[in-house]
Amino acid sequence: MKEQILSHLGAGHSWAGSIRYYKTVDSTNTEAKRLADKGAPHGTVLIADRQTAGRGRMGRSFHSPENAGIYMSLILRPDCKAVDLSHLTCAVGTAMCDAVEAVTATRPGIKWINDLVYNGRKLGGILTELSIGSEGNVNYAIVGIGINCNQAADEFPVEIADIATSVYQITGKTVDRAKLIAQMICHLHILDQGLFKAKAAWMKAYRMDCITLGKEVMLISGDEKRYGKALDVLDDGAMEVQFDNGEISIINSGEIQVRGLYGYC
Ligand code: BTN
Repeated sequence: MKEQILSHLGAGHSWAGSIRYYKTVDSTNTEAKRLADKGAPHGTVLIADRQTAGRGRMGRSFHSPENAGIYMSLILRPDCKAVDLSHLTCAVGTAMCDAVEAVTATRPGIKWINDLVYNGRKLGGILTELSIGSEGNVNYAIVGIGINCNQAADEFPVEIADIATSVYQITGKTVDRAKLIAQMICHLHILDQGLFKAKAAWMKAYRMDCITLGKEVMLISGDEKRYGKALDVLDDGAMEVQFDNGEISIINSGEIQVRGLYGYC
């Protein structure tokens, strides 16, 4: 697999020498954290054929069956404060739309903040984790990406069968995972080159990909549910929502359900 990835990426790519490939790992993000804590450098890319404990946002799991999806993590060591990376998850989302489009000629959308979606179903997700040192400086960032690739509709577990999709289901063709992985690495590298200087451009592109914008949404925090409309995504990735009582709020975290998606109707 690693040879196939390198053949698509080109051995001269500046991250080609830092790719680590695993048959099975608990979670590429967890393994990336272990490596980063031991000093693994900026640009280390981890890829697994299977995860036994794949993780998503808000403590959820990410179903990661063998050879069916792409499970990838990237270690970044930018010299900045945590607050300077508030756009990272959004920018990675748009970079991953670029990668999928490059291979399939079909562009997914993004459900705020981190879900890749197509036809109202989840195609993948992004889990960004930061290690913060003294005075808010970033020791390292781990960007984890999972994409459902070759699962048929009846191959998802029952809990996600109604909300998940795969590249195969979108295009009707088996996707060459090595080719898509190479595109993901290329687009992550482009993002890394312009992470700070092209921040406004990444966020402009994110707004175009973000299918949540303009939609009726339900914000869930604890037992409370509030209803409103998604107005905008700010440059730090926060969502501006107007609730049905007219109040406008900036949402930084939590769960937003979008009417028409994942069974919310
Ligand atoms: C989400 O759906 O909330 C995010 C899912 C992120 C899954 C990827 S798979 C590779 C990396 N390793 C993990 O354990 N999680 C991320």
